[in-house]
Amino acid sequence: MTETLLRGRLLTFHRDPAGPDDAEAYTYLDDAGLLLRDGRIAASGAFADVAPQAPHAPVVDHRPHLMMAGFIDTHIHFPQVQVIASWGAQLLDWLNGYTFPEELRFADPDHCARMAQAFLDQLTVNGTTTAVAFCSVHAASAEALFAEATRRDMRMLGGKVMMDRNAPDGLRDTPQQGYDDSAALIARWHGRGRNGYVITPRFAITSTPDQLEMAGALAAAHPGCHIQTHLSENLAEIAYTAELYPEARDYLDIYERFGLLGPRTLLGHAIHLRPREIDALAATGAHPVFCPTSNLFLGSGLFDEGGLRARGITSGIATDVGAGTSYSMLQTLNEGYKVLQLQGQPLHPLRAFHWATRGNAEVLGLADRIGTLDPGTEADITVLNVRATEAMALRAERASTLAEELFILQMMGDDRAIAEVYVAGTPRKAAARGAARMRH
Ligand code: GUN
Ligand code: ZN
Repeated sequence: MTETLLRGRLLTFHRDPAGPDDAEAYTYLDDAGLLLRDGRIAASGAFADVAPQAPHAPVVDHRPHLMMAGFIDTHIHFPQVQVIASWGAQLLDWLNGYTFPEELRFADPDHCARMAQAFLDQLTVNGTTTAVAFCSVHAASAEALFAEATRRDMRMLGGKVMMDRNAPDGLRDTPQQGYDDSAALIARWHGRGRNGYVITPRFAITSTPDQLEMAGALAAAHPGCHIQTHLSENLAEIAYTAELYPEARDYLDIYERFGLLGPRTLLGHAIHLRPREIDALAATGAHPVFCPTSNLFLGSGLFDEGGLRARGITSGIATDVGAGTSYSMLQTLNEGYKVLQLQGQPLHPLRAFHWATRGNAEVLGLADRIGTLDPGTEADITVLNVRATEAMALRAERASTLAEELFILQMMGDDRAIAEVYVAGTPRKAAARGAARMRH
């Protein structure tokens, strides 16, 4: 048995705060104890109450920092670690000019292995303990990601992209190959350790109807797997999609017809939606995923979180690296605030931090395991320092409430504000930072 007792300030959410005054949506403790035992949270509460439960456990004192559940990133592209910050294009040109050439390199398993380490290190130093990742078309890319996540005991979701058209030689599978490779990866990795497989047709433009049919068959055969794809990100994409699927009522109808929509479905972007598509999202329980840094970077458009929420649709929030411009969920909440502000929907910091933790866990159907600091859940914890930079410390001198402090982290925070990260109870920040330094 391994036990560690963490001491510090603590914030965990019980539901999405209805507003700034919804104090029952969360627990905040000034001097908390968090007892970690064998990778799980064994107890949580006032330090004076928790400490006697483990008199021999080593104590790590994180005061005055704030302990929260590890961040969850619900949409990110593992093969795009060397695509991030590529200039000047919108979605389709960006894919063809920058992204596909880079993804070709993942035919090499050694490249996959090196990038998997770098990718998980970047997540870790940014306080992200679970991600939902698109891999490349190559089974070896998913293999490398799951193998590296397993070595670190990280809860990781991902899948190889299925794409059988409109991509260069070397970056296409076939409907049968895409099915067989995905099925083999499911057999090998889904539910093994903390891994979950995500059936991943990239988007309608790169899949023939035959391939989407196979993806639907795969989903029907493996109802425990998530499904992820892209939806209505960019106007040129939507127009081309309509040409490729002339019989479809709209973009979402394509995925609907092939049985790809349900509560385990994640739809990246979902910006330019028609009323019927919004009805179908509400009816099927599929989840749009808001990727603010990406949507601004590619000039894609403004995600209407408030409008969707009013229809009972629950969205995830995510980085979408490499069209996204930061691995940091703090920076993602910063840009998310601005996108929503443009639409008269200012994102309150309590809602923001709920979203990046328990909210994203709920979207994944995993809130009983990750996203909170509740006893019995997995010990994935991010420790935040609101005074990480002088600019933040100066502003923090004038902050007197938790919400103000959180907003400083939301607007000004990045990897420097991550004081420590625990993955299944093990501190991982120093190792991830050290490995990144060794590589460069
Ligand atoms: N649509 C299809 N593939 C991609 C991708 O890799 N990134 C983004 N942002 N959109 C996509
Ligand atoms: Zn994406």
